[in-house]
Amino acid sequence: MTQTSDIGLIGLGTMGAALALNIADNDHQVSVYNRTASVTRAFVAGAGVLAERLLPTEDLATFVGSLQRPRTIILMVPAGPVVDQQIEALRGLLEPGDLIVDAGNANYADTNRRAEEAAAAPYDFIGIGVSGGEEGARHGPSIMVGGDRGSWLRLAPLLKAIAAKHEGTPCAAYMGPAGAGHFVKMVHNGIEYADMQMIAETYSLMGRGLGLDKPAIAAAFDQWNAGPLASYLVEIAGRIARSADPLTRAPMLDVILDKAGQKGTGRWTAIEAQHLGVAVPVIEAAVCARNLSAAHGLRQQGADAFGAQPQALPPGALDLDDLEAALIAGKILCYAQGFEMLTAASDQFGWDLPLPEIARIWRNGCIIRSDMLNDMASALDRGPGEMLVFAQPFRGLLEQHEAALRRTVLAAIGAGIAVPALSAGLGWFDSLRTRRSPANMIQAQRDFFGAHGFERLDGRDAPHGPWAATAA
Ligand SMILES: NC(=O)c1ccc[n+]([C@@H]2O[C@H](COP(=O)([O-])OP(=O)(O)OC[C@H]3O[C@@H](n4cnc5c(N)ncnc54)[C@H](OP(=O)(O)O)[C@@H]3O)[C@@H](O)[C@H]2O)c1
Repeated sequence: MTQTSDIGLIGLGTMGAALALNIADNDHQVSVYNRTASVTRAFVAGAGVLAERLLPTEDLATFVGSLQRPRTIILMVPAGPVVDQQIEALRGLLEPGDLIVDAGNANYADTNRRAEEAAAAPYDFIGIGVSGGEEGARHGPSIMVGGDRGSWLRLAPLLKAIAAKHEGTPCAAYMGPAGAGHFVKMVHNGIEYADMQMIAETYSLMGRGLGLDKPAIAAAFDQWNAGPLASYLVEIAGRIARSADPLTRAPMLDVILDKAGQKGTGRWTAIEAQHLGVAVPVIEAAVCARNLSAAHGLRQQGADAFGAQPQALPPGALDLDDLEAALIAGKILCYAQGFEMLTAASDQFGWDLPLPEIARIWRNGCIIRSDMLNDMASALDRGPGEMLVFAQPFRGLLEQHEAALRRTVLAAIGAGIAVPALSAGLGWFDSLRTRRSPANMIQAQRDFFGAHGFERLDGRDAPHGPWAATAA
């Protein structure tokens, strides 16, 4: 081992440790530093043969001093103030040309600010979204890069080497300036929330609605994973449904408390969608569902007060084919919303986001990887700017599966089984194809109480209603 490394990495938690091993595996020598030095020692001690490509350091000056110039330093610490503190601690040790890479789940607005601050600082800064969890970070994540193009070009060989590959193509790409990479990662996570919620809703309908036991539910997910729904999340849903608790031998799902956690990226997606004025109701429903799941006490109070035990579905109301079709339709609606949000951000922020490339780098490595993203990439290539629901094969799939989605939502509502994401998708779809919406009533009311005016269908210049003449 030499005393200089070509890459430095700070933060040896779940993701940082896995990423450091991935980088070392790709023939780089990596200097590592962690706030708690014992973690650094334990990490290198457990790295096996890769330990010889890891240089452990226990103070920042030694860490920075061990890096080849110009230095490349990857931060893998919790998003938020910790990133600013870490940058501040490095600032006095760096020289022009050194590059700080924030690889955590930063809010894109923070990345915009840090990129701006870097312009007047003795370092360059780039923000990259890394998806794929621990396994992805170790063996190949999907990587969404935002920052100046020069920094991307400098990092591209490393990022492409450590990224997942889809049929040989690296799942790492340049998204655009400053916060663009973290913005795309945020929308990825919003879609992830929605994908997971819709899978959970079909699981609920299979169990409560159809009375299937866990092995039968696992078999259904396995079967779906062999068709249009083939994806990592459907695959693990099957594996999870089949798993037994080592302590009690009960199905694993029966011992897991039904309170979903979150670190905020789904919530940010919903908030940013509102700032952009884009409707992403499936993602919003998924975030709300997590919030309500976490309000465990409130749900017990609700169940006590209203006797909300869901009923089984009437015989013949739904079958597994309906649920598969509903999930296919829901997934298309959700992705159409996510890509609409990316389109709106690209326009409003002047980012020129590469939408087909985004679909391509999501095909492997990341949590939402799926076969369907292949067709999405082709559709976005063929019709830039066209909403996915209008592009083939998705338009055809929606025509084919709309009835099953409607049957599924109707049956669930009839039985009192909550399916907020699937019904939000259907509501969005129905709104999308309503030629004449009830917003004329809203416009009339706005004009009535606030003299906001309205446009007329006949184009005549009479923008207010005769409300004063209306009898109370
Ligand atoms: N876990 C995932 O699946 C996943 C996926 C994609 C992205 N991410 C993002 O990746 C980043 C890291 O996540 P993680 O799951 O690896 O987190 P983690 O396991 O909790 O590790 C956090 C790391 O940051 C260090 N750290 C915490 N507070 C610090 C502080 N105040 N000053 C300096 N160092 C500090 C910790 O050091 P100590 O050992 O001293 O505590 C540890 O090395 C986050 O932004 C996360 O959102 C995570």
